[in-house]
Amino acid sequence: MTSYVVALEKDVRDFSIVRSMMGDKPLVIWRGASGAINVWLDRCPHRSVRLSAGRNMGGYLEGVYHGWKFDESGKVTQVPALQGRPSEDITATVYSTAVADGFVWASEEECAPSGSAGEPCYPVHIAAPVDQVRLHVDASANHLTPWGIDRTMVYPTGDPVQRRAELSAIRRRLEES
Ligand code: FES
Repeated sequence: MTSYVVALEKDVRDFSIVRSMMGDKPLVIWRGASGAINVWLDRCPHRSVRLSAGRNMGGYLEGVYHGWKFDESGKVTQVPALQGRPSEDITATVYSTAVADGFVWASEEECAPSGSAGEPCYPVHIAAPVDQVRLHVDASANHLTPWGIDRTMVYPTGDPVQRRAELSAIRRRLEES
């Protein structure tokens, strides 16, 4: 079980929509009327348009293209072209999410943020753009997540102690060059 930091909690303001990545998966992160933070795959189940291009209406997220409405559980509650009749089993892809230590954590399995059961995956933060980091870091053994336009979070897999030592050395080289 591994959880990833996908945003700073303070960046996900009320009624906002934030984009992020978990490995190679684009994410839409939004905080609705309940105050809970939702982390979903940034892809509309209708025609794959980015959900982050839609609108956070508080109680629901509205798809930009055809106005499908998704409640906070990811369920489609309204399809305007079908006179509002919701599609039965079509939902957004929802990731397990938790907020801890000022971070938003997400996981494809059950989320395990710091301080609870399970192993959080602490990233190595490198002050260099993801394209540059990719030239030095084996992307098959690490998850690379862009952090803004000029920084990268690298989540190691395998032996965390060894990997973090390797990544720290790469970080020093990149940040000193
Ligand atoms: S592509 Fe999302 S509502 Fe149609």
